Amino acid sequence: MTDPLTILGIESSCDDTAAAVVRGRTVLSSVVFGQTELHADFGGVVPEIAARAHAEKIDLAVEQALASAELTLAEVDAIAVTAGPGLIGGVLSGVMCAKGLAAATGKPLIGVNHLAGHALTPRLTDDLPFPYLMLLVSGGHCQFLIVEGPDSFRRIGGTIDDAPGEAFDKTARLIGLPQPGGPNVERAAQSGDAGRFALPRPLLDRPGCDMSFSGLKTAMLRARDSIGAEKGGITEQDQADLAAGFQQAVVDILTEKTRRALAIYLEDKPVNRGFAVAGGVAANGAIRAGLQQLCANTETVFTAPPLDLCTDNAAMIAYAGGALHGMGQVDDLTLSARPRWPLDQTAPALLGSGKKGAKA
Ligand code: KG4
Ligand code: ZN
Repeated sequence: MTDPLTILGIESSCDDTAAAVVRGRTVLSSVVFGQTELHADFGGVVPEIAARAHAEKIDLAVEQALASAELTLAEVDAIAVTAGPGLIGGVLSGVMCAKGLAAATGKPLIGVNHLAGHALTPRLTDDLPFPYLMLLVSGGHCQFLIVEGPDSFRRIGGTIDDAPGEAFDKTARLIGLPQPGGPNVERAAQSGDAGRFALPRPLLDRPGCDMSFSGLKTAMLRARDSIGAEKGGITEQDQADLAAGFQQAVVDILTEKTRRALAIYLEDKPVNRGFAVAGGVAANGAIRAGLQQLCANTETVFTAPPLDLCTDNAAMIAYAGGALHGMGQVDDLTLSARPRWPLDQTAPALLGSGKKGAKA
């Protein structure tokens, strides 16, 4: 056994097949096989295609992660695996692989909640002390969590329909930009006029920090169609103006709802004033700037993990597995794959299930 423990992590809950080796806060290796091209023609992740691709690649991901960490399986102390929430076929691939490795080696098996992996990443990257407020914002998730410990989370709000990444991707499709939508919409927005179209900010007029993005998407469709009806198509400038208007609406929704979430978090006078954002959408410069400014205004420490650890990866699963192991969690071969697994069992259920599986 090494001190701190050396953990092999496995992740396959959505469209990335990943394995990593982490020792304490050091990422010894992190391998991610994406599936973007496999799903490109379908407008979203196709669960059956994802599951098959995970099954084909998961052994290879583990082999490569061990090789690049220059370790053998025998030198690993424990095996952590995402056991949910996510697309069940994919989660099963990871869980079966991890169980096989645990059974063959006798190493402890630790089932990790994918969302806990994201939520604990600021501790891996920045050693952010508990408690802190986290905004998890990606193609599949959008929620505010007060993170109090490795297995203690309070969800104080989230999307009631689409996740913002999904909305970026759909918007890109609507206005004729390639996938993934987020970076392309951001690029187009740079030369656009965000004020040209009157786009809604759903739920901003309601108290609390739940969010909604599907009305915004419908408004985008209408705006595009009205230009199309007028001119018979949309120009590059129209595209830029639509992208800028959409991005500004998302910035406004996320910053205002984060302002309210921060107020709720700070109300309890936490021993630390910390805020972290994670998920693919956290790559967006305008969103990041809005959140960073908000934290500066409230004297809250702002943390955003580097992008490769912000998006889906297995290092976060290995790290979270290590933290849970430290609290005494060990699973056995009855560990099951769970399509839904809310981090906060007491919070009301989030509605809907996005293109990337269950939201919680
Ligand atoms: O966390 P992630 O890699 O995967 C999951 O969704 O689990 O997030 C991917 C999402 C996609 O929807 C993508 O369009 C969005 O993050 N994204 C962005 C940006 N880069 C990626 N959204 C807005 N602006 C960006 N620069
Ligand atoms: Zn994720």
